[in-house]
Amino acid sequence: MDRQTELGLLGELLGLEGETSAFLAPTVTTFDVSIYEDPAHFARERRAILRAFPQIALHARELPEAGSFRVMDIAWLPVLLTRDREGEVHAMLNVCRHRGARLVDAAEGCKHSFSCPYHAWSYGSDGTLRGVPHQNLVSTSRQWACSGYR
Ligand code: FES
Repeated sequence: MDRQTELGLLGELLGLEGETSAFLAPTVTTFDVSIYEDPAHFARERRAILRAFPQIALHARELPEAGSFRVMDIAWLPVLLTRDREGEVHAMLNVCRHRGARLVDAAEGCKHSFSCPYHAWSYGSDGTLRGVPHQNLVSTSRQWACSGYR
């Protein structure tokens, strides 16, 4: 929200206080309550609100030291939050980029690398792919020089 809009809304709210009113619109808005149970409406809201904007996941102190990590679902997506050796916080999907396995099961902990339980691809706490076991046996038609599982 830009500053001008913010100031306009604040002015409007202060005006309502002066009028001892709680309504911004001149009439009361009503709608069919079935939208609360409509999966399509919920999916649209999820896309338009929860996945379109940054979400607050946790307070920085909940990743207290280098290597701290936490796992949670945010907007119905599995997310891994980490603090790397330099103290920078990262948020990425908790999904291995190889075949989509869940990378970390623990809810929280402290480590600097994560190894996938399936084929042991490993990632740094910044999400960078660090290792692919038996890479010489993996198809060379694809490049693994990726930026991690973000
Ligand atoms: S699914 Fe993760 S290494 Fe294969």
